[in-house]
Amino acid sequence: MPRVQELQLPTLDYTDPTLRGARFHERMRELRAAGWLAAGPYGYAVLDREGVEFFLRTRSAVFPGMTIAEIFDVREGPLYEEMRRNILHINGADHTRLRRLVNPSLSPRAVERYRPVMRELLAGIWKGIEGVGDVPPRGSAPGGPATPGGEASAPANPATQPPAATAAALAEAPAAGMGTVTCEFVGALAKPYPSQAIAHVMGVPLEDAAKLHHWSNWIQRQFDAISMTEQKPAIEQAVAEFYEYAWELVRARREQPGDDLISLLIAATGADEDGREVQRLSDVECVNLILNLLIGGVDTTQSQLAHAVRLLAEHPDQWELLAQRPELAPQAVEEALRYEPITPFTARIVTEELTFRDVVFPAGTIVMVCAFTGNRDLPGTGAGAGSDADTGSADGERAAAAGEAIASERPDATAGAGGDLDRFDIAVERDRARVLTFGAGVHFCVGANLARVELQEALAFLAPRMRGLELAGEPVFDGITGIYGLSELPLRFAAA
Ligand code: HEM
Repeated sequence: MPRVQELQLPTLDYTDPTLRGARFHERMRELRAAGWLAAGPYGYAVLDREGVEFFLRTRSAVFPGMTIAEIFDVREGPLYEEMRRNILHINGADHTRLRRLVNPSLSPRAVERYRPVMRELLAGIWKGIEGVGDVPPRGSAPGGPATPGGEASAPANPATQPPAATAAALAEAPAAGMGTVTCEFVGALAKPYPSQAIAHVMGVPLEDAAKLHHWSNWIQRQFDAISMTEQKPAIEQAVAEFYEYAWELVRARREQPGDDLISLLIAATGADEDGREVQRLSDVECVNLILNLLIGGVDTTQSQLAHAVRLLAEHPDQWELLAQRPELAPQAVEEALRYEPITPFTARIVTEELTFRDVVFPAGTIVMVCAFTGNRDLPGTGAGAGSDADTGSADGERAAAAGEAIASERPDATAGAGGDLDRFDIAVERDRARVLTFGAGVHFCVGANLARVELQEALAFLAPRMRGLELAGEPVFDGITGIYGLSELPLRFAAA
């Protein structure tokens, strides 16, 4: 059987700074048409759904966090401590225990309670956008909720919505009294919203949101090779500052518990598969989990929201549909996650030689796992898998313990799909193609439910208020190596 190094493969230089936006899409389409594997500057990129799932689930590969620490000579200090204790870098029984303790606080049911506050946060930020004012949207129920479950307002009743013809007219020609607003959406809303939401979830004052955003943004850069080369001291400083802040929070919540996530983590209990209670989180574990939730939960949601709104601005008919039917917000969120994943790649390092599709991947091989192309594959269409690596039931059970089963309870979470998968369309029910944007297996994103709720509330809030939405200039795309977001999204709309 050939070793992966012996194959003649097409190349993907994911460090190429011009690889973003339409060019990124085009290159990935070409590569996927050529096969399921490409060679990159540090290793290989696996492109199809089945391959992505395989490399994320196998026990013979892990996230290369500690390899990154070695490569960038991080051997002591706060950044080293943080990397060593990052949940993404922890595996085996320790990881299973951490996930058993944290998952219940972020289950689908647990995150429902944040919807009303999310709407309040959105309303507050919205009012602050220049030219918007605080006029309630025409023809829609106040709050324009995404899905049932919140207390602040009930789901929009389609019967109370303006008829389609009126809505179309509004979209084309803003009515008198609806001021035309031009804004840079990332700075105006996508950026402040997730850090305010996470501040609320953690039970810290809203005034701290900007600080949280700053730390999250910097600490997140540890996953980006270019930032680690050029900005390591600033990343280290952000980790040190956040540790100080989080230790104080844990101390305060131990003394006086509240209703927030930190208090829930301190009090969290869980049981192993035999029903025996697992050891509770220590303060060190708590502080590091808080850090992981912060860095996992800010830039990611910001970037995915910016892409979702960009895609909808590029598809005005779909934006209008959403304004008419805010109950489509969950489907719109799934489609944005699928079509433009802000984590187009994650990475794995092979820890013991493994074979996949008759190709040998030696220990030490770095594999970039591509959700972007994986999301565009129908399940079961990969070239026939033949593998000796262990992805058997034990891993399946651990994945379930890690919370992936939570997502799989969703009706859209099984195999199969509908429609042209290279087209963005919120109206198509792609009910059987699970997005790979949150990963798969035991490290499946612990914040996926929170992110989904945040994004759903945002889209349902914005669609009836930003009528006739269009791009007011070229969006500025970030690079694809870290979190693939937008640094600028100029928009024009009629504020309703
Ligand atoms: C659109 C938003 C988000 C996206 C696309 C996203 C994506 C991901 C992905 C792909 C992974 C797995 C990485 C891997 O296995 O290599 C992951 C893990 C993780 N995410 Fe998210 N995430 C999002 C939002 C959040 C939020 C809101 C939080 C926290 C509240 C969060 C916290 C985490 C944590 C702590 C992990 C590590 C889990 C573990 O190692 O067990 N993420 N995320």
